[in-house]
Amino acid sequence: MIDKDTRITIAGFMKKFPCRDSALVPSLCLIQKENGYISGSDMEDLSEILNLPEARIFSTASFYSMLNLKPGGKYHIQVCTNVSCSLIEKETLFDYISKKLGIREGESTPDGLFSLEAVECLGACGYAPAMMINADHYENLDFNKADEIIDSIREYENPAEK
Ligand code: FES
Repeated sequence: MIDKDTRITIAGFMKKFPCRDSALVPSLCLIQKENGYISGSDMEDLSEILNLPEARIFSTASFYSMLNLKPGGKYHIQVCTNVSCSLIEKETLFDYISKKLGIREGESTPDGLFSLEAVECLGACGYAPAMMINADHYENLDFNKADEIIDSIREYENPAEK
């Protein structure tokens, strides 16, 4: 459900852009920033606010890999599984991270710290393999670098376990 403050900000987007469609992506980004993901009721509300069909809201929200339609971990890991990013080793970066975290596509770790998603392309094909964690891009990865990144997040979140 979209709260009052978010509705006010969305109204500002609608004034800023010449057509309602242009306010759609910034509104979805805002909702995700506020709630961590975009729920079905958020899409219903946004449909009403922007006076756009729900199908239009859903098709846009489901198109962009940066937008989550279900709750994930505190750190949402998106790993590119397209060709350039899959030539690293015999095992893909996605499979390596999946084994490391003990979770599969769309799942979250039991502590809620990480969730994992396979995505088609992160626009970093020349710097493959690539992944994103929340809004941060990581490129030219190998298994060791992925370990360092993920382990440093774990240490940051659980300093007592160090
Ligand atoms: S193929 Fe992986 S970022 Fe484009």
